[in-house]
Amino acid sequence: MGLHHDKIVINGGRPLRGRVDVRGAKNLVTKAMVAALLGESPSVLRDVPDISDVRVVKGLLEVHGVTVVAGDEDGELILDPVDVESAHFAAIDAHAGSSRIPILFCGPLLHRLGQAFIPDLGGCRIGDRPIDFHLDVLRNFGAVIEKLPSGIRMSAPDGLVGAKVSLPYPSVGATEQVLLTAVRAKGITELTGAAIEPEIMDLINILQKMGAIITVDTDRVIRIEGVDRLEGYTHRALFDRNEAASWAVAALATEGDIVVGGAKQAEMLTFLNIFRKVGGQFEILDDGIRFWHPGGDLKPVVIETDVHPGFMTDWQQPLVVALTKAQGVSIVHETVYEQRFGFVDALIEMGATIQIHKECLGGHACRFGRRNFDHSAVISGPSQLHGADIVVPDLRGGFSHLIAALTAEGTSTVSNVGIISRGYENFIMKLEALGADFHLAG
Ligand code: EPZ
Repeated sequence: MGLHHDKIVINGGRPLRGRVDVRGAKNLVTKAMVAALLGESPSVLRDVPDISDVRVVKGLLEVHGVTVVAGDEDGELILDPVDVESAHFAAIDAHAGSSRIPILFCGPLLHRLGQAFIPDLGGCRIGDRPIDFHLDVLRNFGAVIEKLPSGIRMSAPDGLVGAKVSLPYPSVGATEQVLLTAVRAKGITELTGAAIEPEIMDLINILQKMGAIITVDTDRVIRIEGVDRLEGYTHRALFDRNEAASWAVAALATEGDIVVGGAKQAEMLTFLNIFRKVGGQFEILDDGIRFWHPGGDLKPVVIETDVHPGFMTDWQQPLVVALTKAQGVSIVHETVYEQRFGFVDALIEMGATIQIHKECLGGHACRFGRRNFDHSAVISGPSQLHGADIVVPDLRGGFSHLIAALTAEGTSTVSNVGIISRGYENFIMKLEALGADFHLAG
């Protein structure tokens, strides 16, 4: 369901109370859909959220001849790659939109068709989002890569062969690139320096169901034995721990009480520790997690984002909103992306006291230290945020702006909210269910 309004007018200051249910993780479901390309038979994916990133990948699959239809269960997709074919560049470009997912089509298409094409990629503006790791990986497998003015064309005339790949950084996307390519390559692939996020492990679950042979060692080394044939899978997607964390912070920041149905403790362990240290309370239920503000002051924290099992980079934007209300000085050192504090400008306009620094503050030196990147934030609280006119800059920052407007005194107008429906299913209905005081405009 596309959002027909692009502005929300929010009257802040009301606690959010009630229940929301999160479904499959945006950052797993989109990759699972691509994995279906590798199967010789149809796949069934369950708990798929109705978000625009899923619709983008559905469109990209369909221009390649894959049928993607709704199954009987709500949130179920049936993907049939039996007639996969090359797509015309213009069709790919028309569907790619602001997604980075097209780069992950390359391995599967090179296996099936011997060729692939990707347009220049989009994605949130949180750094320059390069794809050098991806291209190096594909070259390692034997792909021939040709850069064109409109994008990148690839071919694999002699097929793809297993490779030894070492990632300079545990990149989620590049790890997925290796997995989606190695499972059908000839021979063994050894990946060192792999990402091991829960979404990666769930993708490995899916590939194993299809017939792949994959091991994950304790030292972030993933080994894949290429096989000649993979079948379709049936899989219920892992829940979205980013959406779950966003609603948890919304409960804390608005002094409310929200049950997030579908959330599970194991994948949120590090988040739950910080949530508790800031002063929130949570209860693990059979079908979700209850998050609430128990009263009293919020406490400042010093955190450093990192790859899994560290504190996830996508969790810091909503958390910063809550830290504006903490009694004291908090520090967030963002070590995954070089420019991921653009969203704080709106918070400062709303009355927050936040300074951004180029130094690595509060933790270890990271890749961005002394390279002129604003990647550490110092948040002094408590501040009482007041309403303002805000334009959403990106997905996670945008949801944080909603949380800020919900906690602010007075009225805020939040524009460009369509971006939020990229990753948050039915967030308008969920805000209504939680008692938020707002109306749609524009
Ligand atoms: C995935 O992005 C997620 N997106 C991101 O979520 C998430 O924040 C990120 O992983 C880290 O967990 C999707 O899964 C669609 P990376 P990805 O490759 O794969 C650098 C959200 O809001 N890098 O792990 O693109 C890169 O610049 C999004 O849901 C290269 O230098 O992340 C960054 O500094 C935001 N060259 C670091 O690695 C490359 O070729 C981590 O990026 C690739 C990445």
